[in-house]
Amino acid sequence: MATEGQTLEQQLDELLDQERFPPPEDFKANAVISDASIYERAEADFEGFWAEQAEMLDWDTKWDTVLDWSNPPFAKWFVGGKLNVSHNCLDRHVAAGRGDRVAYHWRGEEGEELDITYADLHRDVQKLANALKDVGVAKGDVVAIYLPMVPEVAVAMLACARIGAIHNVVFGGFSAESVKERIEFSEAKVLITVDGARRKGKTAPIKSNVDEVIGDLVDTIVVVRRADNDAPMKQGRDHWYHELLEAAADECPPEPMDAEDPLYILYTSGSTAKPKGILHTTGGYLTGVAYTHRAVFDLKPDEDVYWCAADVGWVTGHSYIIYGPLANGATSVMYEGAPDYPDKDIWWEIVERYKVSILYCAPTAIRACMKWGAEYPERHDLSSLRLLGTVGEPINPKAWLWYWKVIGGGNCPIVDTWWQTETGAIMITTLPGVLEAKPGSAGRPLPGIDAAVVNEQGEDVGTEQGYLTLTRPWPAMLRTLFKEDDRFVETYWDKFGRETYLVGDAARRDEDGYFWIIGRIDDVVNVSGHRLSTAEVESAIVSHPKVAEAAVIGQTDEDTGQAITAFVTLEGSLEGDDELVGAIREQVAGRIGKFARPKRIIWADDLPKTRSGKIMRRLLRDIAEGRELGDVTTLRDPDVMEQLEGKIRERDAEGTG
Ligand code: WTA
Repeated sequence: MATEGQTLEQQLDELLDQERFPPPEDFKANAVISDASIYERAEADFEGFWAEQAEMLDWDTKWDTVLDWSNPPFAKWFVGGKLNVSHNCLDRHVAAGRGDRVAYHWRGEEGEELDITYADLHRDVQKLANALKDVGVAKGDVVAIYLPMVPEVAVAMLACARIGAIHNVVFGGFSAESVKERIEFSEAKVLITVDGARRKGKTAPIKSNVDEVIGDLVDTIVVVRRADNDAPMKQGRDHWYHELLEAAADECPPEPMDAEDPLYILYTSGSTAKPKGILHTTGGYLTGVAYTHRAVFDLKPDEDVYWCAADVGWVTGHSYIIYGPLANGATSVMYEGAPDYPDKDIWWEIVERYKVSILYCAPTAIRACMKWGAEYPERHDLSSLRLLGTVGEPINPKAWLWYWKVIGGGNCPIVDTWWQTETGAIMITTLPGVLEAKPGSAGRPLPGIDAAVVNEQGEDVGTEQGYLTLTRPWPAMLRTLFKEDDRFVETYWDKFGRETYLVGDAARRDEDGYFWIIGRIDDVVNVSGHRLSTAEVESAIVSHPKVAEAAVIGQTDEDTGQAITAFVTLEGSLEGDDELVGAIREQVAGRIGKFARPKRIIWADDLPKTRSGKIMRRLLRDIAEGRELGDVTTLRDPDVMEQLEGKIRERDAEGTG
């Protein structure tokens, strides 16, 4: 065990030998779930188990059938049931006398503070819902939302849910060009956005950027005032959010929705350049997120202050900033800003200020904090914390231990949660009052969930590495890809038959049934927990007039998990230089968003291709990471690799890029 006088580094090094971290006794004694029999109980009757979870919501009409799996992979959950998500997230809490409870302690980047209660949300959501109806939004219509982390984003999502409109939230870090594309794909008629977004003391002119690309794609734009930067407003099309709210009627009864009515579309990256419109529905999704939010975070809504530090524009924000916490009547923190502005201790200041008891974030953030040093968290009292979580990418044991020791003070269980935009809710983790954690492993499938690791033939591979699959439907599963049923079937349900969900990750299951996620098996790159498709980035790069061809790979990166490396060939006899590196990075920022900019660009005379013209990314990964190259005989031109190696050596020697 650690002794006085050891440096933090030494203490962490010693802990590296400890494989298992059981929950502290007092945590276990008070846990929401502490009885391991829940696993067997769910196993014995998984439909009954999920029905029990669904019972915890308010239903206008109860379902007739828990699960209809007669036409796989098109599942129907809680068939015949009717409910409204915004009623479940707001009205029922207000009706139970909890209107004064804080839903969000909102913290702006300049230190502004605002406490938004359930009653506040309830009031604004009804007004915005009426305003949306007034501009012609009807049940089943799609509303695009492009907002930063401001309270209005919660109001906007819930207002859609209230009237049965389907929201399509686009992460604020995406470029206006990406927003336009997603509006086109989803056929949204209304956009809710902001005049300007704050980031590290600067203001990004969001509304003007949108105006440049949007044309007459949407009939209505609702603009939240955040930056006061004289955003251009087009008469008849554009409306200020606050003016609409003022003018709108107060009461808007929630629309009773079919359990299988769509709740939202969220675009995510796949193997091709065209993003996938993941479609989630009403009853199953809400059941899934409410249950997992309660069980995995050991939520005690009367006592806890919960903070998910993700962005609402990703699925983590949808499920665990908005729908899960609100369905459970939790008090959350919502933070607008960056983790290092005004200083690198801002997160810990927030934890101390609001007495955060549960913190959920990405391993990349932890690695950044680790790099900045323990002095920043040490400036603050973090004793309110009792549970920590991670999401989005594998966490290396060193970062896990740092989180556990420096942030959690050695007495907070950590839940490493594995899931996807597609799964809607957490699938694999350690129930914190039941299972011990193993740093680096996500844990076991939650009660009600079943997973397997299989080979090419779909056979279980024991403790070997293989394809991660989910072998049973679950309530929060995606129902399809928006308007692309065939692509839905091909992408997820073709390889091992219509009842086995192909995750797209490689994994290994150990002797204790714990899953160790290795990474993606497709052309998806995970940068700081953000999903990007190599094809998407390639197509942005080749849209630069000087570029002939590009191949993008995810290169292992000690800070961001993976980083984007692009191999680029130029038109004619053009030579690459630093200026062009900058121009290409800007091109990607404009097409997709700044977070997608390649970290490294390598000029190539040619790319390694098979005889049929397919780019061999495996070889590019090997060469970028300095590994011994495997078999190159299948290449059309094996000399390409030698030339590339020369280029990389040259570049490394110059130290540019
Ligand atoms: C990866 C984010 C390891 C994985 C919720 C998955 C993880 C993809 C973990 C989904 C984890 C997510 N450990 N890898 N705990 N969580 N991933 O759709 O590759 O943005 O397929 O959803 O992130 O990313 P998505």
